[in-house]
Amino acid sequence: MDQNSSAGSKNAGVFVCIIAAIAALAGLLFGYDTGVISGAILFVKGQFALSATAEEVVVSAVLLGAIMGAGLSGQISDRFGRRRVIIATAVVFIIGSIGSACAPSTIWLIASRIVIGVAIGTASLTAPLYISEVSPPKIRGALVSLNQLAITCGIVLSYIVDYSLAGSESWRWMFAFGVLPAVILGIGMIFLPASPRWLMSRSLGDKAREALARIRNTQDVQGELDDIKETLGEERGGWKELLDPWVRMPLFIGIGIATIQAITGINVVIYYAPTIFGFAGFGSASAAILATTGIGVVNVLMTVVAIKVIDRVGRRPLLFLGLIGMVISLSVLGVAFNLPALTGALKWIAVGSLVLYIASFAVSLGPIAWLIIAEIYPLRIRGRAMSLATMANWGANLLVAVTFLTLIQKLGRPVTFWLYAVIGIIGWLFCYFYVPETKGHSLEEIEEHWHQGKSPRELGR
Ligand code: BGC
Repeated sequence: MDQNSSAGSKNAGVFVCIIAAIAALAGLLFGYDTGVISGAILFVKGQFALSATAEEVVVSAVLLGAIMGAGLSGQISDRFGRRRVIIATAVVFIIGSIGSACAPSTIWLIASRIVIGVAIGTASLTAPLYISEVSPPKIRGALVSLNQLAITCGIVLSYIVDYSLAGSESWRWMFAFGVLPAVILGIGMIFLPASPRWLMSRSLGDKAREALARIRNTQDVQGELDDIKETLGEERGGWKELLDPWVRMPLFIGIGIATIQAITGINVVIYYAPTIFGFAGFGSASAAILATTGIGVVNVLMTVVAIKVIDRVGRRPLLFLGLIGMVISLSVLGVAFNLPALTGALKWIAVGSLVLYIASFAVSLGPIAWLIIAEIYPLRIRGRAMSLATMANWGANLLVAVTFLTLIQKLGRPVTFWLYAVIGIIGWLFCYFYVPETKGHSLEEIEEHWHQGKSPRELGR
């Protein structure tokens, strides 16, 4: 490689990282707006004199909205393009945040939180989709996982903002703060190129070449364009194609991994960590909140570790390792809660288990579920197929969020955590038998693999 071309590819590397970082602000908003309610609800409850049911509705409104957003956004991002949809999402985030901050009544607040949920559901699909389509295969895992890193940072940011504003009970400002990253996301995306793969799927070859040349910082993009064109071949696009036999396997895998990400209990920890720390014997609310922030920070740090190794080690080994860690920590947590008195050392066993759990999630299912669903689908139906997987994720999230406290009441703490551990074992088996190793393969190679009717585990062999 001569010096010019190596400098060129270095610049291209920097530019694609900037693109991914801006698009990942959508992940930051996803994390912030799901996390912010935990602190805000304490004051909202008092101000609007919410009943327990009304409180549950306010909290889960976002999840309902997210299911709707996930359902709508695939088709519209296939139709109007990933970049435009992300810009529109930023606007919806702004509307929902201002609406929540100014809410004069409970109904108004619920409606605004549903609007934010729609934006979150849309962002959870379009950001990884867009990033995966602009990334070179060698670093695609790391770049798409930047979105997960941003989600984890958004969650910690929401804890910090909630904590700083709690003294003045300024819950309206907690919601209003979300406007800032949304404005940066919207403006940033205006300057970025559209996804070249999407442009090709709309038969806009010249624009695709222009966009790809800009992203790769070279005019030498014919090879990549030819690959994309070839895979588009005879594909038709549309909902019906999702039923084609060769698409069934990736569809099943994406819906499976997205569901497993949620039903292994991650949001029990994210949403209810202070409650679990309370069970473990932490008396004061502030100690529980501090411990929760610690969990959030471990989540961020271990996501950084995942980003560093994901394109070297691969997706499958990380999934195996992470799920084993999750199963062990959930089992130990169940045992700890089964012992008569959770004092002294046992209290710390409970804390240690939660730390191991979140660290294991952060190196595996956290980033990889979103990555896999952005990698394995054929281009023409990528948005629609991702819609189904993303809806499954948000649906499972809602299920877990509304059943956790009831399970604790009916089955008891140990059995509840063991139940998540058993689901974790099923998740491990699912990943072992079905999740393909996508490391280093172009999206077109992955698509060709399905076309040839090969089994998932044959990819990467
Ligand atoms: C999941 C969220 C979760 C977050 C925690 C995301 O990948 O989809 O449900 O709250 O990770 O880091």
